[in-house]
Formats: sequence, C-alpha cells, structure tokens
Amino acid sequence: TLCYLNGHYTPLAEAKIPVLDRGFIFGDGIYDVVPVYGRRLFRFDEHLARLERSLARIRIPNPHTRDEWLERCRCLVQTLAETRGVDDQVVYIQVTRGVAPRDHVMPEGLEPTVFMMVNPLKHATADQRHHGVACITARDFRWERGDIKSTSLLGNVLARQMSADHGAVETIMFRDGFLTEASSSNVWIVQEGALIGAPKSEHVLEGIRFELLRELCEDCDIPYSLRPVSEAELLSADEVLLSSATKEVLPVTRVDGVPVGHGALRGKPGPVYARLYEAYQ
Ligand code: PDD
Repeated sequence: TLCYLNGHYTPLAEAKIPVLDRGFIFGDGIYDVVPVYGRRLFRFDEHLARLERSLARIRIPNPHTRDEWLERCRCLVQTLAETRGVDDQVVYIQVTRGVAPRDHVMPEGLEPTVFMMVNPLKHATADQRHHGVACITARDFRWERGDIKSTSLLGNVLARQMSADHGAVETIMFRDGFLTEASSSNVWIVQEGALIGAPKSEHVLEGIRFELLRELCEDCDIPYSLRPVSEAELLSADEVLLSSATKEVLPVTRVDGVPVGHGALRGKPGPVYARLYEAYQ
C-alpha cells in the first residue's frame, strides 16, 4: 500500500519516522478519517475544517493549504483505485508536532510530521445491518477534551477493548450520568420518532455526521435535536444508533445484553434507522 510521509509517496512498509517524533513520545498530534465513495472524497471540506480546528486547539500550525491537502488525498485515492480497483476507501490523515528532544514544553519552529494512508472502506456486514449490533456501557473515564481528534487514544482504546472483550462493537459512555459518545463513534437515541444526540461540548468529538444526519433528518421529516441524554433514557430508548465515517449509521439492538426497543421491534433495527440508512446511501 502507498502512503504519504512529509512530502513523499512511499510504500507503507518503507515509511519511517524518528523515535523522537512527539507523536510517538507524547501522542502529541491529531488525525482525521475521510471516507471515499466511488473514488470521491465525501464531505472533504468538513473533514478538513475539523482537522484545522484540531490543529488550532493544540497549537500546531497547519502545514498545507486546502488545495495541497486535497491533491495529496486525491493522489492516494487514485493510486488505490487504479492498483487494486477499490472504489470505496478511507483516507487517514495524521499530523504530529514534529521531532525534538523530549521536553513537555512545545518547542518553537518545529516542522510538523504529516502522514497519510488510504485503505479499502470496510462496510458493515449485511448481518450487522439486518440484526443490529451489540454495545456495552461504561463511565466515560477519558480526558476532558474529546473535542480534539487527538492521536492520544489510550482512553478510547481501553474503552473499545472492554466492548471487544464482551463480543460487542462499541462502548457507549456516560459522564455524570449523561451520554457523551462511544469509543470511536457518536451515539444517537430515538424517542417517539425523533432523533436525539448529545450536545456538542468539550467531552464529545463533533462527528462530521452530526451535520449530515441533521440534513438527512430534514429530508426525511424526522425531528432532530441535540440535548443532554440520561443513561436511563438511552436504556429505554425506542432505537439506539451509532454514527461514524466508517460505520455510517448502524443500529444498536443490544445494550449490556438487554434488547433495545419495545413491542414487536424489541431487539430489532427500527424504522428511523431504516429511513436514515436509506437516505445516507
Ligand atoms: N472515529 N467520536 C469519536 C471518539 C470518534 O473517534 C469518531 C470517529 C466519531 C465520529 O466522527 P465522524 O462521524 O466524523 O467519523 C465520534 C474515526 C472514524 C476513527 O477514529 O477511526
């Protein structure tokens, strides 16, 4: 696989960074993940705007213009498409503060390390879409700046592994009894036909699907709101959904082993999911 590192396109196996890169030493960097459909970057400007917000929040200068980012992404997408015939992809972009002697203080004038790679998009399976997926819940024990798409992902990794240990696909987290997000997805509930998500805050990554789902809800006449969601509300919701660049929208049909929903739809993907998924496609 081809990747991009600091101005050069190289095979992934040959890309090397110095051990003193602050991304390696401190997790001092940010990233973003852009989906590609039919060889075309999806919502590229929104992802790039978030990359810029993440960079600004940790005071790394943006090393490229929009057109430079776009050209690099397109080059990787084109190569994967032509060499392997893959049309749906994910572009991973990472920027770290750069290489310097180990010191917590941010050194002046560092050259940021820019790494990008592209992989085939792994679509959710037909079984996952048909039956929904299982999640577990946990207290949100991560740091308080979930709004930064940081490569320091130890909290998210620990949270995700808890779900893997239970054969579940995500860990849905609560801070002070209120929904934040899952380890690598945003979380939505459906109450009386309306889609409800946690408010934007420093504890939640603002997924690019926040705005996308708002637009899709508008198209589908589904009420959409962001407001605090208690743990009790999530556990008694009609439907629970995950969203991310790679999951798109995915129905959650078991939470902590208990079927989601009520009546005939208990434990089954619901109608709001079905409409949003269709609109998404
Ligand atoms: N994860 N919350 C967290 C903590 C995430 O890591 C992600 C995305 C999201 C959803 O954001 P978006 O809709 O923009 O993908 C929410 C990416 C896909 C990842 O880490 O691979």
